[in-house]
Amino acid sequence: MITQQEFTSRQDRLLAQCPPDSVCVIPSSTLVTRSRDTEYKFRQNSYFWYLTGFAEPDSVLLLSNHSRHPSAYRAMVCQAKDEHAEVWHGRRLGAQQALGQFDLDEAYENDQLDTILDEWLDGHSHVFFPLGEEAWAEKQVMESFQRLRNNPRKFLVPQHLSDPRPLLDEMRVFKSAAEIATMKAAAKMTSEAHCRAMQFARPGCYEYQLAAEIHHHIAMAGAHYPAYGTIVGSGENACILHYTENTDLIEDGNLVLIDAGAEYQGYAADITRTFPVSGKFTEAQAKVYQIVLKAQEAAIDLLKPGVTLTQANEASSKILIAGLIELGILNGTVEENLENQAYRAFYMHGLGHFLGLDVHDVGVYKIDGEDRPLKPGMVLTIEPGLYLPNHETVPEDYRGIGVRIEDNIVITAQGTEILTASVPKSIADIEALMSN
Ligand code: GLY
Ligand code: MN
Ligand code: MN
Repeated sequence: MITQQEFTSRQDRLLAQCPPDSVCVIPSSTLVTRSRDTEYKFRQNSYFWYLTGFAEPDSVLLLSNHSRHPSAYRAMVCQAKDEHAEVWHGRRLGAQQALGQFDLDEAYENDQLDTILDEWLDGHSHVFFPLGEEAWAEKQVMESFQRLRNNPRKFLVPQHLSDPRPLLDEMRVFKSAAEIATMKAAAKMTSEAHCRAMQFARPGCYEYQLAAEIHHHIAMAGAHYPAYGTIVGSGENACILHYTENTDLIEDGNLVLIDAGAEYQGYAADITRTFPVSGKFTEAQAKVYQIVLKAQEAAIDLLKPGVTLTQANEASSKILIAGLIELGILNGTVEENLENQAYRAFYMHGLGHFLGLDVHDVGVYKIDGEDRPLKPGMVLTIEPGLYLPNHETVPEDYRGIGVRIEDNIVITAQGTEILTASVPKSIADIEALMSN
């Protein structure tokens, strides 16, 4: 649970990085139509959630460090209380209760958003607003700028429009103790869900049924939805990196790749496991699997403060290449293949990514053109894979095999903490779980 104090301190840290006389305008998401008068399930904007923990649409957080206030000055604009709308569409907190629930100096209802924006922009020299993030709010902010410009006798127009996201992204890269606790909960329920799917799997079941096992478990554990489109790829479907159709019947003898994660209190887990639907790896499947596992473990073993993701990637790529040479899929030496990148035909994605409120979380991987060293508080995935197409360039035994293994890892002062270690990944452990 993230406390109100932590949300307030995030707001303070953002504002402290803005020049004097800045106003930050941070919009929530809005509802998106799915079909006629129904909408997609609402998902809060990650930046707005990071700063407020407020789950309603059509709201705006306003922060000012203008010298006209004694210190950080905060307001929320939220949906108006409306008996009729609340009977049809659900409860709304309303401005009055928002004032009590959040650490705010003012709260307003969003039918006055245009006037509020005019008042808040007026007299500030810098506006921090994320362009391209929330179209509904951007239109309002641009119109407010225009009204100010059209009324130079009444308003002092801000001279600078800046993006708050680079500041927020860097803050979000380093997770607090409370964030890590939340991510541990997301990782735990996701780990259990993967085990459940492995135990349920049998030849003749459908890919979407394994997805349903995952979704059932994470819902029962408290997650309202998955953090991204669940991937259940059996057989050759495992070679489609973001396969989310999940429509096929899983045939005996095939591997199944499941890449799925819960979103819990806004935070994502992102686990991949690959296992044989029959409960027993074939010899060819085991050979490919062992290569990926060794590459994944080598990368994880390297992680600690000061190391870069690129260094871990090189170590794991060398193992993948050596394995592909041994299987007769690549020719030449490891060094030659690293150089000519031929292995990228069978390993097309990166080693991993930051994980947090977004599954592919924000944050830069290079600073001043240099790979950034890992530091305590970062959370990332490590997820090498091999995808061997059903094609004559691949020896027959290995055609159509796709394997990815993905864990979620916190960088600590001592090295790492693996959040997803309870899902089996050695061949022996997978086979043992599936035989139960
Ligand atoms: N689930 C997407 C990824 O692993 O990056
Ligand atoms: Mn994944
Ligand atoms: Mn991932």
